[in-house]
Amino acid sequence: MKMITAVIAGVMAFMCSFHLLAADTLIPEPQQWQPIQIEVVQGDIPELRGMPLQAQFPAPQPSVNQEYIEILSPASFWADLLNYGFFGMIALLALFVVINGKAKLNQGFSGKKVDRWSGMDVLVHWVGAIACLALVITGLIMTAGRFWLAPNMGAYQWFGFIDTSVALHNLMAFPFMLGWAVMVIKWAKKQLPEACDIGWLKAVGGYLNFGPFKGKHPDAGFANAGEKLWFWCFTLFGALMVGSGLILMFPSLVATKDGANLALILHLVSAFVLGAFTVVHIYMATVISEGGMECMLSGQCDENWAKQHHNLWFNELKKSSKV
Ligand code: HEM
Repeated sequence: MKMITAVIAGVMAFMCSFHLLAADTLIPEPQQWQPIQIEVVQGDIPELRGMPLQAQFPAPQPSVNQEYIEILSPASFWADLLNYGFFGMIALLALFVVINGKAKLNQGFSGKKVDRWSGMDVLVHWVGAIACLALVITGLIMTAGRFWLAPNMGAYQWFGFIDTSVALHNLMAFPFMLGWAVMVIKWAKKQLPEACDIGWLKAVGGYLNFGPFKGKHPDAGFANAGEKLWFWCFTLFGALMVGSGLILMFPSLVATKDGANLALILHLVSAFVLGAFTVVHIYMATVISEGGMECMLSGQCDENWAKQHHNLWFNELKKSSKV
């Protein structure tokens, strides 16, 4: 009996040592969303990005603000939020266009062009916009990809894919910051509130083709109230995005893990708001407002588009003999 017990104990000891050895050489599993649990701030970028370099089993650290950890912990909640914000808005606006139709130009295109944006405006818009779209897509992969991409890929494919997404996300942050800063500084004056904004909002910009709203063309200056809402939302949440993103990229900017976790929460909330509003903005420019897109391609718009959508601005141009 003693002999059998000794053999069993020997086998178990061997298995345990093998397990420890295996734990030492564990291949990093591509994971997402592991909120920061330990005190050290330096070298945590992959963790902050939801992908630890080493497979690890985080122990709860009471010294770290547990409320932040609880907010960050349900990875599926953040994945759903960002997915619904982006793809949900695409679906919602598609339905809106099917039901409501587009905003056509009543008089059609006149063929006469009016200068609206400078070459520099167009350039800076596209630098910021392309970077922003790349950030939205890679950000969605980093947050939600583990649920809808990883199960359909091999572990190593997924690891390479998520790694590339993180690298691209890091890279695109810089043209976004440049575009954001220049757009905010250069365009803020054009986007200040005006008396006509309330009337524009009440008439929903004249974009609804039914009921009392049909055929309305509310007054608007260079920018209408909808564009102003987008601009100031882009300014505010863009600032949060840039600030929190810099902390995620350079965690030593904050002294504690709590600061890094808070930055992560703010980054996710801003991503949700900007992601959804970006979809609205793109729909307005490309699908809903006939003639709107050419403003950001050539910097010019059609005279009838200016009269219909920005009548007060067009009248000013006429007074100053610029058209
Ligand atoms: C395919 C994507 C996009 C298209 C087609 C597009 C198109 C446009 C157009 C046509 C305008 C001028 C509207 C006017 O003259 O009244 C504009 C303005 C603007 N865009 Fe974009 N845009 C896109 C993406 C973005 C993104 C991702 C951002 C954010 C980084 C952005 C930020 C802005 C801002 C702040 C304005 C000025 C406010 C306004 O006039 O709405 N755009 N865009």
